[in-house]
Amino acid sequence: MKYTMKEMEIIKNIREKFAHVEDCPYSGKRIFFENAGGSLTLKSVVDRSALMASLPDNQGRDNLASSAIMDIIKKSKLKTLDFFNAKNGSIIVGESGTELLFRLIRTAILSSGKGSVVGSNLEHPASRSATAKWSKIASKKLIMVPHCNETGTLDIERYIDQINSEVVVATVVHTSPVTGIGVDLKNLTKGIKEKNPNCLVIVDGIQHAAHGNINISNYHIDGYVISPYKVFSRHGYGLAWMSDRLRNLPHENLMNGPEENWELGTRDVGSYATFSDVIDYFDWLGSKLSTTQNTSYEKFFSASKFIHKQEKNLTEVMLHGKDNIKGLSSFQNIKIIGGIENELREGLVSFSLPDIPSEAIVKGLNEKGIRTHIRKSDHYSGNILEPLGLKNCVRVSMCHYNTEEEVLQFLTSMNEIVHL
Ligand SMILES: Cc1ncc(COP(=O)(O)O)c(C=O)c1O
Repeated sequence: MKYTMKEMEIIKNIREKFAHVEDCPYSGKRIFFENAGGSLTLKSVVDRSALMASLPDNQGRDNLASSAIMDIIKKSKLKTLDFFNAKNGSIIVGESGTELLFRLIRTAILSSGKGSVVGSNLEHPASRSATAKWSKIASKKLIMVPHCNETGTLDIERYIDQINSEVVVATVVHTSPVTGIGVDLKNLTKGIKEKNPNCLVIVDGIQHAAHGNINISNYHIDGYVISPYKVFSRHGYGLAWMSDRLRNLPHENLMNGPEENWELGTRDVGSYATFSDVIDYFDWLGSKLSTTQNTSYEKFFSASKFIHKQEKNLTEVMLHGKDNIKGLSSFQNIKIIGGIENELREGLVSFSLPDIPSEAIVKGLNEKGIRTHIRKSDHYSGNILEPLGLKNCVRVSMCHYNTEEEVLQFLTSMNEIVHL
C-alpha cells in the first residue's frame, strides 16, 4: 500500500501518543510485535493512573473529592456504553478478563434453569475452563464445537447446528489470540438467538478489542468481556458489558445491598478513568480522519476502519513481502496458521518452520531487537496447535501503531535467521 502524506502524519501522531513505542526500559531499542500479550499503553493512561492513585478519597462521602470520583465513574460507564454502541445494559470492572468471564459464565450457568451449554474449541482457556467447571457442577451437558483448522476460526453453521431449545448458555470468542482470526459475531449470534431466543450468549472480546469496531447493538448477546491492558490501557482490571437480563439474574452481592450491583468491594476509580482515556484516544483518531462526523460512535467507527486498513497492510507485507524483501509465505515449508489469505485475520500472524525450532526464532528475533512470542501446545494454546500437529509456533502480533518499516525489518531479520 502506498501511504498518503496525511496517513503518514497520522501514524506519526499515533506513535507519539504511546509509551515505549521504540524502546523497552529493560532491553533498549526494540520493535514491539507482542501486542496480543498486551498492547502499548497510552501516555494519557500512564499519567492518569498516577493522578488517580494519589487520591485517598472513597465514593459515597459528602465531600467534593468523593463527588468528583463518582462523576468520573458515571461518565466513564456512559462513554463505554457509547464506545461499545450498546443501547442498554451495564458496564462493570473486575479483577481481569479471566475473572469476569468466569463470573459471567458462572452466573449464567447456575441461574439459567435446566439445559445444556455450548462452547467451542477456539476459545481461550478462560471461558473453556469456566464452562467446563460450572456445567459439571450444575449437571448441564457441555457441547464443545470443534473449530476449523484450515481457517483458524469457527464454522458458524457448525456451531449453530448445536443450538436447540435445550441450550441455555453459549460462549464465543470474538478473535482467537493464537490464530489471530476473527469470528463473524453478528451472524453467529443472530443464528444462535434465531434458534433459541432464551439462550444467554457470552463473548470473550479480549483479543478483538484493540482492533476496534465493537458494535454490541449488532450482536445478539448478553455479555462482552475485554481486558483493557490489551487495548491501550494498563494491567489491573477487566471490563465487561452485561445485558439487563444477565445483570438481573441471581448473583453474588452484599446482603440487603442494591440487587443490580455486581461489583464486589471498592473499585479502583483509576480503572474507569483510564478506560475513558482509551475512548478519548479512539475519538481523537476518528476526528483526525474526518471532520464530518457527528456522533462519537461515527468517530469510533472511522478510527476502527483506519486501524483495520493499517493492520491489513502490515499483515499483507509480512506475508507477501515488499520490493526485494521476501514475505513469510515464500519461506520453504512454512506453516501459517489460518492460511495465507484470510479476510478475517486481525493483525496477527502465527507460523512455524519445520527445520527451525520456534524458540530459536523468537530468541534470534529478540537478539535483533524484535519482540515476538512462542505459543506452545500447553493449556493455553494446545486446543489450536495440537489438531494442527504443531508443538509450538511463533506469534507475531501487530497493532495499528506499528509501521511497514518495522515489518520489513522483521522480514530482513527472519531471512537472516533462516539462512544462518
Ligand atoms: C482471547 C483471550 N481471552 C482471555 C484472556 C485472558 O485475559 P486476562 O489476562 O485479562 O485475564 C486472553 C489473554 O491473553 C485472551 O487473549
